Amino acid sequence: MSCGIGGSSCETPRRRGALVMLAAMTVIFVALSVFSFMKSRGQTTPDTITYGKYTADEGKRVFQAYNCMGCHTMVGNGAYLGPDLTGEYKRVGPAWLAAFLASAGGWPTTGAVRAQLLDPNQQADTGADSIDAYLKKFPDAAVQIERRGGKTTMMPNLPFSKDEIGQLIAYLKYTSAMNTEGWPPKVEVEGLDHRLQLAHGAAAAPAAPAAPAGAAPEPARAALDPAMQGAQLVKDNGCIACHATDEKRLVGPGWGGLYNSKVHLADGSTVTADDAYLRESILKPNAKIVAGYPASVMPAYDSLLKEDQVNAIVAYLHTLEKQ
Ligand code: HEC
Ligand code: HEC
Repeated sequence: MSCGIGGSSCETPRRRGALVMLAAMTVIFVALSVFSFMKSRGQTTPDTITYGKYTADEGKRVFQAYNCMGCHTMVGNGAYLGPDLTGEYKRVGPAWLAAFLASAGGWPTTGAVRAQLLDPNQQADTGADSIDAYLKKFPDAAVQIERRGGKTTMMPNLPFSKDEIGQLIAYLKYTSAMNTEGWPPKVEVEGLDHRLQLAHGAAAAPAAPAAPAGAAPEPARAALDPAMQGAQLVKDNGCIACHATDEKRLVGPGWGGLYNSKVHLADGSTVTADDAYLRESILKPNAKIVAGYPASVMPAYDSLLKEDQVNAIVAYLHTLEKQ
C-alpha cells in the first residue's frame, strides 16, 4: 500500500507503527524495572557485612555523625586532609584500627595492637591469634607500626565509645569489600622528577634546592590578606570538619557572629569572644569549654599552627557575621 503525504490511507500503518513502538518500550521499561529491583547484582551491600555484633549500617551512621568525610575521602568523595579510607580495613585490619581509633592521639605500637588481638571479635574476623600471624596477614599494619608506632598523629582524638569503634570497623570492612571498579587508580611516579617522589619510610627527603640568593619572597603569598589566608588555613587544618562558618552547630559551635559576642561556658560563666579568647580557643581548647559542647574533642593546635597562622585565622573569624 502506498500513501502520499497527508493521505488518509496512511493513518492505519502509522498508528500500527506507533503501537508497536509503544509495546516495545513498555517491554524494555518493565524489564529494566525488574533488573533494578534485583538484589545487589553481585555488588556487596552493607546489610551483609558485620564485625562481631556490629553492622556496617550502624557504622555508616557513626561515620556520618563524626563527619569523617570532612577530612577523609571514601570512594573519591570527601576532603583530602586525611588519607583515603576506602580500602583501609583491607590494608591494616581490624586490630590496628581498634588500637588506632581508641587512641587517635598516637599511632598504635605493637603492644597496642597485640592487646586488641585478645578480643574474640578480632580472632573470629581475621583468624589470627598471634601478632606474627596478624602482621603477616596485614603487612601494611606492620609498616604503619614500624614507621609511626608511638608517634603522635594529626588525626583529632575523637571520643568514640567501644561500640562506635566496633561499628566503624564494620563499616570500613564493608567499604573494603566493595567493588570499586579499580578506584582509586594507582599513582605512577616512576620517572617523574618531584621532591614528593619518595618511597614511604625513606630516611630523609632530599634537600630542597636552595633559593637563589636575593630571590624575592613569594609575592603571591605575601600579598594575601590575612583573612583570606585564614580562610585557607581552616580548610587545610580540617577545622571546618567540626565548625560551620555560619551559626550552625556541627561537632563544635558555628563561627558566624562569634567575634565579640558573649559566649556561655560550661562552668556557668560568660566571656566575650575577643582576640585573646579566640586565640586561646584554638591553641588550648580545653582552657574554656563552650556550654553544651564536649571537652577534649577539639585538638589543641598549639604545636601545629605558627603565630602568624593563628593571627590569620583570628582575622578570618572577624569577617564571619551572623547570618
Ligand atoms: C579534623 C579532620 C579529621 C576528621 C574529622 C577525621 N580524621 Fe581520620 N585522620 C585525619 C588525619 C589528618 C589523618 C592522618 C594522620 C597523620 O598522618 O598524622 C587521619 C588518619 C586516620 C586513619 C589512619 C589512616 C592511615 O594512615 O592508615 C584512620 C583509620 C582514620 N583517620 C579514621 C577516621 C574516622 C573513622 C573518622 C570519623 C569517625 C575520622 N578519621 C575523622 C583527620 C581527620
Ligand atoms: C574534632 C572537632 C574539632 C576540630 C577539628 C576543631 N574544633 Fe574548634 N571546637 C570544637 C568543639 C567541640 C568546640 C567546643 C568545645 C570547646 O570549647 O572546646 C570547639 C570550640 C572552638 C572555638 C570556640 C568557639 C566558641 O563558640 O566560643 C573556636 C574559636 C574554635 N573551636 C576554633 C577552631 C579552629 C580555628 C580549628 C582549626 C584550626 C578548630 N576549631 C578545629 C571542635 C573542633
